[in-house]
Amino acid sequence: MTQSVLGIIGGSGVYDLPGLTNPQELAIESPWGEPSAPPVRGEIDGLPVVFLARHGKGHRLGPTDINYRANIDAMKRAGVTDLISVSACGSFREELSPGTFVLVDQFIDRTFARAKSFFGAGCVAHVAMADPVSPGLVDRLEAAAQAESISYKRGGTYLVMEGPQFSTRAESELYRTWGCDVIGMTNMPEAKLAREAEICYATVAMVTDYDCWHDEHRDVDITDILRVVRENASKAARLIACLARDFPREHPACPLGSDRALDHALITAPEA
Ligand code: ADE
Repeated sequence: MTQSVLGIIGGSGVYDLPGLTNPQELAIESPWGEPSAPPVRGEIDGLPVVFLARHGKGHRLGPTDINYRANIDAMKRAGVTDLISVSACGSFREELSPGTFVLVDQFIDRTFARAKSFFGAGCVAHVAMADPVSPGLVDRLEAAAQAESISYKRGGTYLVMEGPQFSTRAESELYRTWGCDVIGMTNMPEAKLAREAEICYATVAMVTDYDCWHDEHRDVDITDILRVVRENASKAARLIACLARDFPREHPACPLGSDRALDHALITAPEA
């Protein structure tokens, strides 16, 4: 049996996890370099939980500068089996107003300046990404959102842009025609690397703004984002606390097989 270890990666405005008892910074060395910050391991209701601030202490790392490989590797070495990304995002839909938590189920990766794989020269692997999010984790997040009366939407497509600038109006309108629901700068390659690391992954995308497509709302700026994120931070903490409380202590096998993603992904022949 594998014991569940819940990992939380906190994005803009989510720099710690209130409710984590006995927090201890882990000094983890990764061959992929330095994670954004030392992961902090503690407990919520007896469940081991590891928290990592994606942008580092004091928000010093922009979306392109984050070492996503080191972050995911550090979470893997910390024993994380199930990983929740808590991330601010812009909305492409009228009904997804600021404050809504979107439990996305798809991503479109438009990033282009990031290392995206643990594999490459010498050892090649192609993991499946058709369903990037673990449905079992989304079930649990949904139950927690309901229990905490948090306004949420299940399902949605998150467009991941390179940033750090926000989109032009033409880009924003284009992404709407593609059927995207929300936009952010960080969930790729995080989701891809989690899959390669055989960690179940899900995202809570917290809507902070309407990007720049909406005529009746002013164009997104960082002040507005941080104000909404601060308002949402306590809701996110409640959601995670509830999720952790009810989380199975034994890691439930992912129905999609995210936790066995490498079983049929390696193409390089083993050395004779
Ligand atoms: N993060 C929060 N709001 C965003 C937006 N409108 N575009 C990209 N990333 C965001």
